[in-house]
Amino acid sequence: MSNNPPPGIFDLRQYKVEEGDRPSPLSECHTSRRVLMGPGPSDVHHRVLQAMSTPLVGHLDPEFLDIMDDIKQMVQACFQTQNELTFVVSAPGSAGMETCLVNLLEPGDEALVCSHGVFGGRLADIAERCGAKVTKVEAKWGEHIEPAQVREALTKCKPKIIAIVHAETSTGVLQPLQEISELAKEAGALLVVDAVTSFCGTDLRVDDWGIDAIYSGSQKCLSAPPGLSPVSFSSKAVEVMENRKTKVQSWFLDLSMVRNYWSGAKRAYHHTAPVSAMFAMREALRIVLEEGLENRFRRHEVNHLLLKEGLEALGFKFLVKDGYRLPMLNSVILPDGVDDAAVRTKLLENYNIEVGGGLGDLAGKIWRVGLMGESSSANHVNMLLSALKSTL
Ligand SMILES: Cc1ncc(COP(=O)(O)O)c(C=O)c1O
Repeated sequence: MSNNPPPGIFDLRQYKVEEGDRPSPLSECHTSRRVLMGPGPSDVHHRVLQAMSTPLVGHLDPEFLDIMDDIKQMVQACFQTQNELTFVVSAPGSAGMETCLVNLLEPGDEALVCSHGVFGGRLADIAERCGAKVTKVEAKWGEHIEPAQVREALTKCKPKIIAIVHAETSTGVLQPLQEISELAKEAGALLVVDAVTSFCGTDLRVDDWGIDAIYSGSQKCLSAPPGLSPVSFSSKAVEVMENRKTKVQSWFLDLSMVRNYWSGAKRAYHHTAPVSAMFAMREALRIVLEEGLENRFRRHEVNHLLLKEGLEALGFKFLVKDGYRLPMLNSVILPDGVDDAAVRTKLLENYNIEVGGGLGDLAGKIWRVGLMGESSSANHVNMLLSALKSTL
């Protein structure tokens, strides 16, 4: 009999261990010890990494259900909400975005989507895929949406939802929400907010600011591994979902089913939760609340100012005007003569530091320097500044 595997079967024998530029798939997985200062993921606390190596339990084990309850309670605290329907979607921020939109929108509904960067554009795309009639309010990348623009748009449409990004990671803009929330209330629309980058890094008050649906991500200022999305829904949003005329088109994200897995006396199987990632989520939330939200927000602001001073001294200029800058995502225009790709490659290869490049029209023109969660420290700022001084 031949020792060769049947055609089409992956033959591992073709790989020689540790030969060539890239290790063979049969060798252990090793990565460089990067300093994560891009648009996410951010550095992760060793306690969170340790939590991920906790022995597995079943996803319906009573001990795991207790862990889910802990997570829910801590996510409520971090969102500053009492919303009963608060939990973590077993998928990344984009799935949190889809969860909000597919559950709230039905074909034929109107949606007003504010777009001032990549993620506002993604919101509009998903809303259209839900069959909604989308009206867009746009601002130039690097600028915020003015409430007057929303007021004007509301004279021409009657939306069921107004969707907006709180921290636009593609541009570094912090979008004020309160006036837009008031406009949503006056118009009888639900306010849907993207808080992927702002969650746990700057003030965000779901209840006080009248937010009806909100989603975030695990990999930014929460400093947990990527792949999970905390979400929360007001009672008004829940009422809208309960009165749907059509089935939610996504089985996995349909909250009428997922919610029974996250609450109630009798938990029903819905999907197999990513148990180890949830252990990490619990530990990351615990670290946030041990530090305290106010202290954490202040730390992000202080380190942003430290970085600003250092980068400006090196000739970088901020893309966003003062008062609207994100403390956790610094978008800076490169000084003349600085080669974007060459310098970022040197930072990565010589110093293990990752910073993000610009997206869309801003590619090659700006950097996006993240100071998120564990990566928001004076050490990180000083490491980057000294690496830049010897590289530029
Ligand atoms: C503002 C914003 N919204 C949504 C997303 C999508 O999140 P994910 O990449 O986790 O799917 C991101 C990711 O960077 C983001 O920054």
